[in-house]
Amino acid sequence: MSRILLTGGAGYIGSHTGVELIQAGHEIVVFDNFCNSHPESLDRMEQITGTTIRRVRGDIRNQTQIETAIRAHDCQAVIHFACLKAVGESGERPLEYYDNNVAGTLSLLRAMRATGVRTLLFSSSATVYGVPQDLPLKETHPLSATNPYARSKLIIEDMLRDIYRAGPEWRIGILRYFNPAGAHASGLIGEDPPGIPNNLMPFMAQVAVGRRNTLRVWGNDYPTPDGTGIRDYLHVVDLAIGHLSALRHLDTPQCLTLNLGTGTGHSVLETLHAFEKISGTTIPHEFAPRRTGDVASCYADPSQALAVLGWKAERTLDHMCEDAWRWQEKNRNGYRS
Ligand code: NAD
Ligand code: WQD
Repeated sequence: MSRILLTGGAGYIGSHTGVELIQAGHEIVVFDNFCNSHPESLDRMEQITGTTIRRVRGDIRNQTQIETAIRAHDCQAVIHFACLKAVGESGERPLEYYDNNVAGTLSLLRAMRATGVRTLLFSSSATVYGVPQDLPLKETHPLSATNPYARSKLIIEDMLRDIYRAGPEWRIGILRYFNPAGAHASGLIGEDPPGIPNNLMPFMAQVAVGRRNTLRVWGNDYPTPDGTGIRDYLHVVDLAIGHLSALRHLDTPQCLTLNLGTGTGHSVLETLHAFEKISGTTIPHEFAPRRTGDVASCYADPSQALAVLGWKAERTLDHMCEDAWRWQEKNRNGYRS
């Protein structure tokens, strides 16, 4: 058992990971400024786990606040989810993205150095591979960034590699997530993006429940079997469990980089049909031009995570749709329902 600080722990992936950590016998401290989440998610996590969750309202850019939280709760490790993640918005507001994501991570790392905490899992993203040159994507694929959000992830990854080079006592796990989807099977926690969802699964779920009228399918002229974009959707609970495996593996100093994905791609239309079948709804949709910056196909080679951690995603696309639908139906307007 250890006590772990979760920056951004009230968000989509943080809340699901928090639940799995607690159920595996860890204690968590959620550090979040709730800029893109709702404290209600923490109440729901308490309901699922039957525990009281330690919570700190704070900003990762405030080093003192992080240091105080680490010391007050005697944390031994950090999982760093806190981040702004909207790709389009990052192009319009690059300064905010570099400030929140890069400067925020610097401040977190300084706080960790000051408090002697040397174990860190970082939420990276498949976006650091830029435009895929070879599929499936291996960890050795060249890295590049096509927008400020992606660049912020790449800069942080580089910072972490430098920190490990200079201080080989660090235990760092860089986890490159593919496309997290779905929700906890209880229907109590799930994805609740503010405003209009950028990502496919929450948008689709909101159309299915009648909160939005039509799904726009961005592009049906890609070089894929049905012309729509292919992605590696990964159940958020599988992803959460991946963090547990990675944390277990960080029992010795290292800087580990792993893809967390299923290795299987699904097109937009396949995903839409799966969601319709599971929810028993018809999802009105129309084809629209390609979205700027999108690639035709992106999916992981997850074999390293299996070899190193013994971790493998178990849940199917149908599972993701089933759980996303349960969450959406029970919480039509998310945590503010
Ligand atoms: P999310 O927006 O639901 O969660 C992020 C959390 O961080 C929110 O609770 C937000 O309030 C908090 N936060 C943001 N800035 C903060 C700050 N300055 N101080 C304190 N808290 C702050 O996002 P998510 O989907 O759960 O993503 C978690 C992590 O995973 C992010 O780092 C994201 O980049 C990464 N990731 C997400 C996806 C995805 O598709 N969801 C894919 C790859 C990587
Ligand atoms: C999936 C597919 C769209 C919405 C983004 C970020 C990436 C990562 C995950 C964090 C694509 C299509 C979508 C819609 C659609 N985030 N689509 N209509 O594009 O793989 O990645 O989220 O790191 O950085 O770029 O995921 O869910 O946005 O799109 O047709 O309303 O669905 O074109 O083919 P993506 P997505």
